Amino acid sequence: MTPENFQLQLLAWFDQSGRKDLPWQHPISSYRVWLSEVMLQQTQVVTVIPYFNKFIKRYPTVNELANAPLDDVLSLWAGLGYYARARNLHKAAKQIAKAGFPETLESLVDLPGVGRSTAGAVLSIAFNKSHAILDGNVRRVLARFKLIEGWTGGSAVNKQLWDISEYFTPDARVADYTQAIMDLGATVCTRSKPLCLQCPLQSDCLALAQDKVHLLPTPKLSKKIPVKQLVFIIATNKNGEILLEKRPPTGIWGGLWSLPELENKQDVSAWADKHQLVIHKRTELKVKRHTFSHYHLDYAPIQLIVDSPTNNVMEAGLRIWYKHTQHKNIALPAPINQLFDEFKEE
Ligand code: ADE
Ligand code: SF4
Repeated sequence: MTPENFQLQLLAWFDQSGRKDLPWQHPISSYRVWLSEVMLQQTQVVTVIPYFNKFIKRYPTVNELANAPLDDVLSLWAGLGYYARARNLHKAAKQIAKAGFPETLESLVDLPGVGRSTAGAVLSIAFNKSHAILDGNVRRVLARFKLIEGWTGGSAVNKQLWDISEYFTPDARVADYTQAIMDLGATVCTRSKPLCLQCPLQSDCLALAQDKVHLLPTPKLSKKIPVKQLVFIIATNKNGEILLEKRPPTGIWGGLWSLPELENKQDVSAWADKHQLVIHKRTELKVKRHTFSHYHLDYAPIQLIVDSPTNNVMEAGLRIWYKHTQHKNIALPAPINQLFDEFKEE
């Protein structure tokens, strides 16, 4: 899609469905746009609106904000979160009161609390100067539209997205364009359940074409957590009962009934011998993963059809034969319940 087409589609959508009655849009001024963009950095529009109105009422101009005691600004900000924003806002207001409102990218990013994207938003919305933005909403739209994989905060992907954002940013109607692409991200190309059928970019969206919308933007790789491996034994006797073991009171699944577990599958026959079980059939099921907060548990279920001629394995309160298809009144760990449920379906 050419930038011209991208802009045409997006602006036509904006004329129909964009947000045109946000309080900072009426009237537009550099002070009001800057104030709203700082408030919107980590906060949603619905939350920001009443705060924006309160601030404008108390501090109608940047001079009044600059001259206010910091404590007053902070208390008016209370509830919006990320209080560094309020401190930076106050500091920046003092700079603006002294030197005038900056009108270039370089001078805007010199203000405390103003990054490249906020500066681009202020320049395009307040001054109609052609500057790109890349906030969270725009990252998501562009990563999907151009199928950019990889964490969008990583430096290579970040650079790629800025290049794409600049490529699509028009010279004309840039204020509307900036508002349009943010609105599209906020209302159509949403993180979950995006409304692609209503999207003005759907005909050329690569993520949509390749059915990868739900995979993008790629989330940050979470810290690697260790993997623990073990074998669960599903020993079934001729009554169709499964052998359960009571877990020790402390540790993971403490005090719950669970399947006997072994460190590795070579130990299965020794385990059976110890409990005087005769194995008639052995089936190794697919390894599954259960994730705890601090590690992954990869468990290999091994199904054994056994005979227990001595019933030596039974030990009240410690080992029981359990009819998994009948009663449900005992506490089992979630993955064990899952395994049993799968059995029942077979
Ligand atoms: N998020 C950041 N800036 C915004 C704006 N101008 N309108 C709506 N959402 C925004
Ligand atoms: Fe986002 Fe869907 Fe539009 Fe692509 S088609 S930009 S995924 S809303």
